[in-house]
Amino acid sequence: MVTLLDKLGRPLRDLRISVTDRCNFRCTYCMPKEVFGKDFPYLEKNHIMTFEEIDRIVGIFTRLGVTKVRLTGGEPLLRKNLPELVSNLSMREVELAMTTNGVLLPRYAPALSAAGLDRVTVSLDAIDEGTFASITDSGHTVAAVLAGIEAAESVGLGPIKINTVVKRNVNENEMLDLIARFSDRDIAVRFIEYMDVGSTNGWKMDDVVPAQEIRQIVGASKAIKPNNANDVAKMYRLENGGEVGIISSVTEPFCGNCSRARISADGRLFLCLFSNKGLDLLSPMRKGLSDEYLEEEISRFWRSRSDRYSEIRTDSHKDRNRIEMSYIGG
Ligand code: GTP
Ligand code: 5AD
Ligand code: SF4
Ligand code: SF4
Repeated sequence: MVTLLDKLGRPLRDLRISVTDRCNFRCTYCMPKEVFGKDFPYLEKNHIMTFEEIDRIVGIFTRLGVTKVRLTGGEPLLRKNLPELVSNLSMREVELAMTTNGVLLPRYAPALSAAGLDRVTVSLDAIDEGTFASITDSGHTVAAVLAGIEAAESVGLGPIKINTVVKRNVNENEMLDLIARFSDRDIAVRFIEYMDVGSTNGWKMDDVVPAQEIRQIVGASKAIKPNNANDVAKMYRLENGGEVGIISSVTEPFCGNCSRARISADGRLFLCLFSNKGLDLLSPMRKGLSDEYLEEEISRFWRSRSDRYSEIRTDSHKDRNRIEMSYIGG
C-alpha cells in the first residue's frame, strides 16, 4: 500500500467527502437559523462536484493510500440520487460509510444498502423531544431519527454509531438516557466535546463538557484498547458491561494520529477541520488536467501538512475566517 507521510509522519488513510453544504436541521452549534436563513449563499449547483468527479477523486485517493471514505454534508441525504454515487464508489477498494442526521433514512436506507454502503453513523443529541427540538431547531423529532436508525439497522447498515455533541447546560443530562436507549443493541453511543469549528456558533470554553467529566457522569472507567490507532473515539467499558465512546477533540486532542483529509462539496481539499486553506481540485479537473497531475498536487499538499490545531488551540483563532462544519463535513 502507498504510504504518503506528512511533515509529522502521519499517513493519509481517511477521506471525508461533503456532498452538499445544505441541511434540513438547524442545529444551533452548527447552522444557527439567524445565519443559515433563506438568503444564505449556499454553493451553486454548477460549483458542486458531480458524481463522476467525486468518483474520479476517490480513485486518485485510493492510489495514494486511502482505505476509508465517509460521505458527509451538511446532510448527505439531501443530495439527489445519492445511492447512484454509492453504487459507483462501492466498486472501489474502500470501506464506505456515511454520517447523517437520520431522518431521511427510512426513505433511503434500502437503496443505500443495495448500492453497497457499508455503514452509517447517526447524529442524535437528545432523547427528550423538547431538548432535541431546541438543539436542532427545525421541526424534526427524535422519533423520526429513531425510525431512521431502525431502518438502517434492518437493511444491514450496521454496526451503527451514534454521535452526540455535548454542550454544557443544554444536553449533558441526556447522556445516561441515550446510553440506556441503545444499551441492549449493537449500537455505540459516542459523546463529542463541543468544538470551536466555524465562526457562527459563538463557541466558548465554558460550553464544553470535558471528557473527564463525561467519563464520570456515564461511569466510563475502563478504556478499551483501540482497534485502530487513528480512531477519533476512545472506547470505554461501562459498569453494566456496555460500551461508550468519547471524542475529546478539545481537552484531549488526537492530532498525532490524524490521517484524515476532507473535501468540500465544491471540490476543495482541506487537511484539517480548522484550516481555511483548501486546495482546489475541481478547477484542474474541469480544465482537463490528468490524474497524474492531480496525484502529484495532492501528494505535495499532504507532504507539506503540519496541521495540529486541536493541540495548539489558542484564542488567536477568533479573528480568523474559518470554514463551517456544514461546508466541510463533520
Ligand atoms: P468511524 O470511527 O470510522 O465510524 O468514523 P469517525 O469517528 O472518524 O467519523 P465521525 O464522522 O463519526 O466523527 C465523529 C466526530 O468526531 C465528528 O463529527 C467530529 O465532531 C469529530 N472529528 C472527526 N474527525 C475529526 C478530526 O479530524 N479532528 C477533530 N478535531 N474532530 C474530528
Ligand atoms: N463540535 C463538535 N461536533 C460537531 N458537529 C457539528 N458541529 C460540531 C461542533 N461544533 C458534529 C455533528 C455531527 C457531525 C456531522 O459533526 O454533531 O455528528
Ligand atoms: Fe445539525 Fe449535522 Fe445538519 Fe450541522 S450538518 S445542522 S450538525 S444535522
Ligand atoms: Fe486532525 Fe486538525 Fe482535528 Fe487535529 S484538529 S485531529 S489535525 S483535523
